[in-house]
Amino acid sequence: MLSDHLSTKQFLAEYWQKKPVLLKQALADFHDPLSPEELAGLACEDEAEARLVFSEAENWRLVSGPFSEQDFVNLPETGWTLLVQAVDQWFPAVKALQKHLGFIPDWRLDDVMVSYATEAAGVGPHFDYYDVFIIQGQGSRKWQLGQSCNENTSLRVDAALKILEEFTVHEEFVLEAGDVLYIPPGIAHQGIALNPSLSYSIGFRAPSNAELFIQFAAHLCADLSEDHRYSDPELQIQDNPAEITQQSLAKVKTLITSIMQNSLQQSDGMEEWFGQLMTRRKYPEHTFLPEPELDADALSAALANGTELEKHPAARFAFIRHPDALTLFVDGQSFPVAVSNSELGALVLELNDRNISKLNLGSYEASAECLNLLCALYNQGSLIEVETLN
Ligand code: SIN
Ligand code: CO
Repeated sequence: MLSDHLSTKQFLAEYWQKKPVLLKQALADFHDPLSPEELAGLACEDEAEARLVFSEAENWRLVSGPFSEQDFVNLPETGWTLLVQAVDQWFPAVKALQKHLGFIPDWRLDDVMVSYATEAAGVGPHFDYYDVFIIQGQGSRKWQLGQSCNENTSLRVDAALKILEEFTVHEEFVLEAGDVLYIPPGIAHQGIALNPSLSYSIGFRAPSNAELFIQFAAHLCADLSEDHRYSDPELQIQDNPAEITQQSLAKVKTLITSIMQNSLQQSDGMEEWFGQLMTRRKYPEHTFLPEPELDADALSAALANGTELEKHPAARFAFIRHPDALTLFVDGQSFPVAVSNSELGALVLELNDRNISKLNLGSYEASAECLNLLCALYNQGSLIEVETLN
């Protein structure tokens, strides 16, 4: 996606997580992968995370979806934005936009949010904790970028959305179809549609330290025994029994650091946990499971009969490399893979190729290990028959 004047290497060195950049005509000849009507249709689905934001004279009103067709019939001409999260999970052509950012690891990807804004509409000045690439589709939108913000930045208390109390505009750009604006986390921004306009925000997540600690602690606790607890067989008489002594505090500190260290020193350390955590689906509650499940023989027969498999658009894939093995992670589950098995190794790479959705399974059908893996992924809904969603 980056232009002839900016290599991906330069982009990572100079801009990624550092400062915004406008990539003018980075996607020249851009054609919208969906229409405003299709976006509105998706916003009427129960599973979709959709919002309507009305901009009314420095006030912003939020209505959460799902919506009905009637909601759209009654809308005014101007001043409203429809935003739908994770449109990549429903529209493969929207998901395909992520391919332009193949130089950023898959596990950092969150989703593609699509917004349709009518004239003069926007969601107000705010900041996000995400890196975002905003691709302009049809229409044009003015983007204003401002100061760096953090959790101490004042937000308006009277608004339903997180609107900044102060917004100092440092830069302003008008985006036309095919322009891409990169905004790092924490930079104040707002977009205002100059005419009916579609934009695609490819968002990258970064877990907060608090999220990581909570999740890691939950992972550690699963293996901790009730038998192991604070103990003080060497207890001495204290001057004042109300005192929590420095000796007791030192024991607690040792206990906590040794739990962490023991876990991190184990052979799989934190890898299994982190791979599983980062490949959990964005909406795990929507996971589609096949009916009936297939065993390896049934899958082999189905493939021989022309059944084709593709990755579910919501599925997340990643792998971790070890000296003589790989661990494949799919939708929160892990699958150890011996790299000496060349067919299995090749299948894992194909599964992890974000440019491939429909799998070319011809060379794997004869391998029992490959069939078992395909079967497990099919039965957990990560691989689906090509016809299922189309
Ligand atoms: C929008 O697309 O209107 C808002 C996106 C954003 O600023 O995060
Ligand atoms: Co934003």
